Amino acid sequence: MNITVLSGSPKGKHSVTLQSVNYISKLYPEHTFDVFHIGQTIKTLMEDDEAFNTVMASVEASDLIIWATPVYVTLVPAQYKRFIEKIFSSGSAHLFKGKYSAVITTSISFFDNCAVDYLRAISDDLKMLFAGSYATDSYDLLSEEGQTRHSQFAAQLFEDIEAKALFGSRTLPLTDSWHVYNSGPDSAMVDTGSKKVLLLKDETYNDTNLGRMIERCVAGFKADIEVINLSDLTIKGDCLGCIQCGFDHHCVYEGQDDFIDFAKEKVAEADILILAGEVRDRWLSSTWKQFFDRSFYQNHVPALKDKQIGLLISGPLTQMTALKATLDAITEWQGAHVVDTVTDEVEDSTFIDSRIDTLVRRIASFAEHGYIRPATFVGVGGRKIFRDDVWGRHRFVFQADHAHYESNGFYDFPHDDAFSLKMSEDMIKLTADPEMRKAVRKMLKKEMVKPHIKVVEKAGAEEV
Ligand SMILES: Cc1cc2nc3c(=O)[nH]c(=O)nc-3n(C[C@H](O)[C@H](O)[C@H](O)COP(=O)(O)O)c2cc1C
Repeated sequence: MNITVLSGSPKGKHSVTLQSVNYISKLYPEHTFDVFHIGQTIKTLMEDDEAFNTVMASVEASDLIIWATPVYVTLVPAQYKRFIEKIFSSGSAHLFKGKYSAVITTSISFFDNCAVDYLRAISDDLKMLFAGSYATDSYDLLSEEGQTRHSQFAAQLFEDIEAKALFGSRTLPLTDSWHVYNSGPDSAMVDTGSKKVLLLKDETYNDTNLGRMIERCVAGFKADIEVINLSDLTIKGDCLGCIQCGFDHHCVYEGQDDFIDFAKEKVAEADILILAGEVRDRWLSSTWKQFFDRSFYQNHVPALKDKQIGLLISGPLTQMTALKATLDAITEWQGAHVVDTVTDEVEDSTFIDSRIDTLVRRIASFAEHGYIRPATFVGVGGRKIFRDDVWGRHRFVFQADHAHYESNGFYDFPHDDAFSLKMSEDMIKLTADPEMRKAVRKMLKKEMVKPHIKVVEKAGAEEV
């Protein structure tokens, strides 16, 4: 079987993810694995069509394409995203049609499901047969159990392909319901007081729906708000995944391009952030992905904490499962507040005007009152994963995070909560007695809600 491996890690042959593929290739010497270091050679692949076409020729000659990539900021690295964009823009998509597709990722399991969903949707868009995914922890291959799992996954994958198994797509093809949005009469302007508002976009967007949505949004704020086009910044490259930032939050690009100063002087200083972009394949553009990846120099410190965020998106957001999920994931764990997302999907400019005006009004109000919506599982779960990782196995690598987590009370492990531990210990002893167990069972419902009822009663009394 001919297999093309599209390796997403910017670390090339030093990629942890690639070792999973290498391990499988050792178990199956009868198959040919053609590995391309997409993440590492992205500049050449973008500039040199011959190099890009060599990869495409391998795809054309293959039975199976393996998307092997680390998870970067809930998705794939910006380099890989750029390569995927080129597959479509260069008219090469047809070369993938009918090929089997499999995804292998390594990560610390923070929204790796979104990266898989994204690559699965891309595989569907390329009309491939998605035969499975192996999304695993960075250290999975080091255990005997993990090695067995690797070989079980590969055995099934190859058996299915040899049996010419059919797999259906899970994503509906994107429906193009594009129409022109034109802004109507101006609305009342909103005063944000001393709050700083920053609008970020990835392109100029002159004379486009998004350009007009941005104009209306900017006009809605009484004060002049700053608008920055990410494409105007001098950016030397995508995040290299080198983790040199782990000790002190200093990026290897520092002083070499605009990104770090921009992040510190503009993004960190803003109270309100409006992010604007067009849908590109199944996410936003690779320029936006680069923004999020390069922001990783702050590692697992919630740099967007307390910021109010609004999103202006042109394109079929409601058909983008990974895009919605990742934007929620990126913001929620950090304690930022996505107030709303406005898209141009609806064919009614008055409605879009109203949605933008409402976004501006609400975002200003939330900023004034400091309201942040409580984190759901997405944010709470994410924070716990980082807390455990930084406290434990990656403390040495992410020393700057560890210092921040220690001094900001991030280590809120349940086993530090002496009251809960003592209470549980006492109650476990008490309920060992069957009679007591019966009595406690009867009281449980009422006792659990007692403190809440007290608060509610007091609130009513205070209002009177
Ligand atoms: C910039 C950057 C962003 C990352 N983002 C995530 C993430 O969102 N979720 C996650 O679980 N792991 C994340 N990781 C961890 C990597 O996915 C993990 O270390 C992976 O095993 C690296 O694989 P590689 O050696 O093949 O590049 C991130 C690492 C880097 C450098």
